[in-house]
Amino acid sequence: MSKQIFVLNGPNLNLLGTREPEIYGVLKLDDIEIRLKKLAKGLGIEVDFRQTNQEGDLVDWVHEAGAKNAAIILNAGAYTHTSIALMDALMAVESDCIEVHLSNIFKREDFRHHSYVSKASLGIISGLGAKGYDLALLALNDSIS
Ligand code: DQA
Repeated sequence: MSKQIFVLNGPNLNLLGTREPEIYGVLKLDDIEIRLKKLAKGLGIEVDFRQTNQEGDLVDWVHEAGAKNAAIILNAGAYTHTSIALMDALMAVESDCIEVHLSNIFKREDFRHHSYVSKASLGIISGLGAKGYDLALLALNDSIS
């Protein structure tokens, strides 16, 4: 059975490419998905890449990852800073999670410095743009069986 990783993206990330490019870069979410899947293929990892603007979808998808024994790469967007429900979902499953942000949240407004997702994640990659997704995949490749 191949290794499986869910890559979950939260609100407004569907607008990448045109959304504040000076902060988030010019790559679209589709571009990030394509380059990540190329890397994953070489490692024999199956990537399930998703985006939603709904908090409950993220909660459901974390449950699904847990049920399928899949690891998680999570960019929860603004829900990072607000969602106790998402933190609880991550804590309720056994899946390893790496939190990713395109921007460096610690360089930005104070309200972005706190992350509920971090409390339930193995680690966080923030500020390295799309490369953060690749690095999270490589880290999970070492930690999953
Ligand atoms: C983000 C950072 C969040 O603070 C913000 O709400 C986002 C994107 C990032 O990838 O840098 O939507 O998660």
